[in-house]
Parts: sequence; structure tokens; C-alpha cells
Amino acid sequence: MSQARGEWSSKLGFIFAAAGSAIGLGNIWRFPYLVGENGGAAFVLLYILFVIVIGLPYMFGELALGRFVQRNPVGAIQAIRPGSAWKWVGYLGVFTGVGILSFYGVIAGWTVAYIYKMAVGSFGGFGELISDPLAVSLLFAFFILLTSAIVYGGVSGGIERWSKILMPVLFLLLFGLIVYSVLLDGASAGLKFYLNPDFSKITGRVVLAALGQAFFSLSLGMGLMITYGSYMSKKEDLTSSGLYVGLFDTMVAFMAGLIIFPALFAMGENPAAGPGLVFVIFPKLFAQMPGGQIVGVLFFILLAIAALTSTISLLEVPVAFMVDEHKAPRKKIVWAVAGVTFIFGLPSALSQGASEYFTNFGLIPGRLTDPDFLSQMSFLWGDFSLAFGALMLSIFIGWVWGADKAADEIESGATGFGKLRGLWIFMIRYFIPLVIFIILLNLFGLFN
Ligand code: PHE
Repeated sequence: MSQARGEWSSKLGFIFAAAGSAIGLGNIWRFPYLVGENGGAAFVLLYILFVIVIGLPYMFGELALGRFVQRNPVGAIQAIRPGSAWKWVGYLGVFTGVGILSFYGVIAGWTVAYIYKMAVGSFGGFGELISDPLAVSLLFAFFILLTSAIVYGGVSGGIERWSKILMPVLFLLLFGLIVYSVLLDGASAGLKFYLNPDFSKITGRVVLAALGQAFFSLSLGMGLMITYGSYMSKKEDLTSSGLYVGLFDTMVAFMAGLIIFPALFAMGENPAAGPGLVFVIFPKLFAQMPGGQIVGVLFFILLAIAALTSTISLLEVPVAFMVDEHKAPRKKIVWAVAGVTFIFGLPSALSQGASEYFTNFGLIPGRLTDPDFLSQMSFLWGDFSLAFGALMLSIFIGWVWGADKAADEIESGATGFGKLRGLWIFMIRYFIPLVIFIILLNLFGLFN
């Protein structure tokens, strides 16, 4: 994209890019470890419920706003309400992009190391890897550089092309792994943990984690879908595109759980092991599988690519903001944002054993099981900030811009939205903001 705005080359182009953003470490790394920490199947059910009743209708709102004004989140808000304090909601989205990238890039770096580990056949030593300060910093830097190099190329030249090719392969591979995992001896205890809900496990924290994960996984709450919607054509049906993205995203997360939990219980591991969970379970699974080394290499290559299509989108939000609003040259901005993200992310990189201080950081007292800086950032940006951003943006779309105008924009190009129009307006104005608000209040312990 030059100073003129880019556009997706086709409907499929948008679906692949948005699904590429949505599908990533959130599905394969974050979802299983949150399920493990938050009691299993009850969390899974809540998560799916939030995707359907909050995530999807809210996503239509972000896409509609983006397509209507053809801007990044800050510019979109400025175009509707020039000079108002609402622009801070847009800035929050821009900061959140950097905030998420700062820890996400660290995990993405680990996936690259695992491609190598699998290839040379050294399966052990996860703890050693993540507590080596030089290794984790270099891996993180490498991944940020890779992301920058692609964002440098612009919307359809860079982002779209990469997303199209490898996601279907990932899907097939996951499917094969499910079959293998559920047939292991002792797998049924894992299926029970994953699929048979125990509702006594639901607490305020679990509810917020499920809501936060729904936003995180669908890439909602920071204006990413405003930005991606801005490259969308008016002729396109944004509801059906959005539904496909939501469906693929939820399926990949669900499939990851179907691999992890049967294997985990079959191997007698602890489901609540935290952020390292999948990096321990997957290699063990590959180690005992015939042909596991090749499968393992392929798996971590695909995981790194899934992460890359997400980090690209995270970087695109601040970059689009600077290019649109400050007429900054795209290329310079890419490197500047990448540099800031790297500095901001170093504490996360060092928080898995390399630095005692960041490993036991505990920023948010008493709120979390994992005190390490990375987990705290994951909660702060990945759950709290996205939920808060979605609260503000749903109010902005439903009340300030106006639910009727938003619904008109959704209807452009859509078939069959007419019947649901009234319901959607109710959701964006009342239901979505109210539910998020209550869950956030609950987080601060106001109901105890
Ligand atoms: N949805 C991505 C994932 O699940 C993460 C992400 C969040 C990307 C927010 C962009 C915006 O991996």
C-alpha cells in the first residue's frame, strides 16, 4: 500500500487475511492453556457462547465502521466525532496492538526454535530454552523483523498472499493429530476434562478469561477489524465473511484442544501448567509417534506461519494509524513501531526464568495464577484491554455513530441481514456493552 489505500483483491482475500489474523497462537497456544487453568469444559462452553452472542455481532460493528470511513481506528473515530475524547479509544487500540505484539512475538519466537529442535531431534530442554536470555531475545527479535519485512510490503502484496497458502494445510494436519491423540491409551480422561462441563468451576475470573479469549482469538476489541474492514469493498457481504472467519477460528481452537487434552491425560501431565503447556505436550506427542519428527517439524512451521499472519495484523494497526493520520512514510514507521515493540517486549522475553525479577513480577496483585511478566501482559492487553476496548467501541458504534447507520452499512452487500437487523441493533446498543460492563465490574470484585 502506498499513500493510496489498499483494497483486498477479492472476497476470499479478506476472509483469508482476517482468518489469518484470527487464527494464530491464540488458538493453539493460548486457548488450551487457559482451558487447562480455568477448569476445562465449562470454560470451553462459556468461550463458545461468548463467540456467538458477543464476538460475532460485535465483529460486524467493527467491520462496518471500518468500511464506512475507510480508516484506521483513530481516524475512524475522528471521522465520525472530530476532536472528541472518543479518539482515545482509538489510541487505546493502537497501544493494545503494540502491547499484544510485545508478548505474542516472544511466544512466536519459541515456535521458530522448535522447528529447529524438531529437525535436529532434540526434544527436551524447554525450560533451558526459555530461560536462556540471549536465545529468547534473539528469537523474539527475529520474529519481529520477519513481521516487519512483510508489513513493509503492504496490504495485498504482503499480507494477503501469505495468508492464502498455508492455512488449509494446518487444518489437515490438526485433523490427523486429533485422530492420533484420541486413540491413545488413557485419552478418555482428557476428553472428559475437555468436553464434560463442571459448572462449579465457573468464577468471575473464569468468565472474564473466557470473554477475553473470545475477543483475543477473533482479533476484536482493538480496531483490527476496523482496519481490515477499511480495505473491504462495499459490494461484499461482511456478515457472511465475518461468519466464516469466526467459524474457522473457533474450529481451529477447538481442534487444538482435542489434540492437547487427550494426549495430556494419557501422559499424566498437569493441565494447569500455564503458558508453557503446548510446548511441553506437543513435543512429547511427536516423540512417541511413528514419523513424529517430520510431523513435528511440519507442525511448528505451520504454527510459526499462523503466528506470523497474526503478528502482521497486530503491527498493521499502529502502522495504518501513523500512515493515515500523520502522513508518515510507511517504511520508516514499520521499523519505528517494531523497535518500540521490541524494547517493550524484552521483559516478557526474560520472564520465563531468565530474569528472576520479571519471572515473579506480579503486576496485578491477587488476580492471577501466573505472576510472570508475560502472563501479566497477556492478561492486561490480551484480556482486559480488549474487553474494555470492545465495551467502548460498541457504545461508540451503537450510540455515537448510531446503530441505524451501522446497520445500513452492514446491509450494503449483505443478503438476509434484514430479518436480523432489529436483533443486531439491540445487541450492539444494550446487550454487548452491558454484559462486558458487568464482567469487568465483577473482575474488580464489586459483587463480592
Ligand atoms: N487473534 C490472534 C490469535 O488468536 C491474536 C490477535 C489479537 C491478533 C488481536 C490481532 C489482534 O492468535
